[in-house]
Formats: sequence, C-alpha cells, structure tokens
Amino acid sequence: MNLILLGAPGAGKGTQAVKIAQDFSIPHISTGDIFRKNIKEGTPVGLKAKSYIDKGQLVPDEVVVEIVALRIAEDDCKNGYLLDGFPRTVAQAEALDKIAKDLTVINIDVDLNALAARLTGRRVCPDCGESYHISTKKDDACKCGGKLIQRDDDKLETVQSRLNVYTAQTAPLIDYYTAKGNIVTVDGMQSIDEVYADIKKAIK
Ligand code: AP5
Ligand code: MG
Repeated sequence: MNLILLGAPGAGKGTQAVKIAQDFSIPHISTGDIFRKNIKEGTPVGLKAKSYIDKGQLVPDEVVVEIVALRIAEDDCKNGYLLDGFPRTVAQAEALDKIAKDLTVINIDVDLNALAARLTGRRVCPDCGESYHISTKKDDACKCGGKLIQRDDDKLETVQSRLNVYTAQTAPLIDYYTAKGNIVTVDGMQSIDEVYADIKKAIK
C-alpha cells in the first residue's frame, strides 16, 4: 500500500500520518521533516532548502524528487509507504508516477480560512516531533521532556505565503489525481479522530 496525504499547510497531514504509519506499519516519509532535519544538521540540502522554506516557497522540484526517489527505494518501503507533503506540484506527481505504482491519494479537505489559526498556534517538539496547539497546551513542556518551539515558517507572514503557494501549485493535484481515479477526499474540518476514522474507511 503506497499512500499520499494531500492537503494544504495545516490540514493535518502530519497529525494523521503518525497514526496511519503506526497502525499500518509503513514508514512515514515527510519531505518537510527531511528538510528540517537537514537544516538542523547544516547539510548542503538543508542550506538550500532553508532559503525557500523561510519565504514559504517550495523547494525546487529536482531537489525534492531526488530525495524521495532515494527514500522510497530503501528496503523498509518494500511493503508500502506513506508520503506526507509530496508531491506538491504537477511536475513532482509526474516524476513520482514514473517510479511508483499502486498509489492511493487521500486528500484532507479543509477550509483555508481556518488554517492560519491552526498554523500560527502550532507548537512542535524538536526532539520527538509531536505537535500541539496553544489553545489546548498552555505550557511548553512536551510529554517526552523536550521544550516546545514554534516552527520558523509558522509566523503569520510566512503562513500566508504558504497558503498562496498551496492554492497556485498544489491544489491542481486534486484534478490531476481525479483524472486518474485514485483519490479519496476526507473532511478535514472534523475532529482529529473523526478524520482518522474516515481515512481508515478510505484505505480499506
Ligand atoms: P511541510 O512540513 O510539509 O509543511 P506543510 O505542508 O506546510 O504542512 P504542515 O506540516 O504545516 O501541516 P500539516 O498538514 O502536517 O498539519 P499538522 O498535522 O501539523 O513543508 C514545509 C516546507 O518544506 C514547505 O513550505 C516547503 O518549503 C518545503 N517542502 C516540503 N515538501 C515539499 C515538496 N514536496 N516540494 C517542495 N517543497 C517542499 O496540523 C497543523 C496544526 O493543526 C497542529 O497544531 C495540529 O495539532 C492541528 N490539527 C491537526 N488536525 C486537526 C483537526 N482535525 N482539528 C483541529 N486541529 C487540528
Ligand atoms: Mg506536516
């Protein structure tokens, strides 16, 4: 089972991906997480990606495609994998079609107007990757003992640019996969557990 989670920034891709990867025992491949790890480690890929991510723009297709192609060729992907945040452009989707089979796309549909609040209020743990929201988590202590931070690209100015980029470059993928007939849309405005229940129904 090869899954793609499609959705705007803040739609809940990462939140749902953690649950799916655990339940179905498949690796969770988040291109955003891969870039953040590279930025933290100061690698050449990280340095390049940072200049785009900080502006809320997409990292160039050829950089992302190469990373994903190498990752899904690894042994742990033989029985399936879950892509979170890839593809994000039609060019990326076309590149993926050449190297992957049996793709099922889950589109998490949300009201774009609700996303700025979700993103600017998000706090993440740099140690274990867990996400929280300030409306329900007032202190900065993660359950793993880490100290929660705000992602640099979750500041309001960058969030606006990410949402515009989504509409211009990523939303067209809904039509792309609809034409192929391998996309299921779930209502991402429900609670996290309700969204997950719908995703499970869609996968089975
Ligand atoms: P990436 O890390 O992929 O960020 P994103 O797509 O902008 O998505 P987010 O991680 O912000 O949101 P999410 O959908 O995972 O939501 P989450 O579950 O955390 O990419 C970052 C950057 O890297 C990009 O901008 C780009 O520059 C670059 N990049 C990455 N991939 C690339 C690619 N393929 N090509 C080019 N560039 C690429 O939830 C958000 C918040 O909402 C949390 O606080 C959560 O608790 C809350 N929440 C989740 N679900 C619900 C719910 N149902 N109800 C209420 N609250 C909810
Ligand atoms: Mg995410």
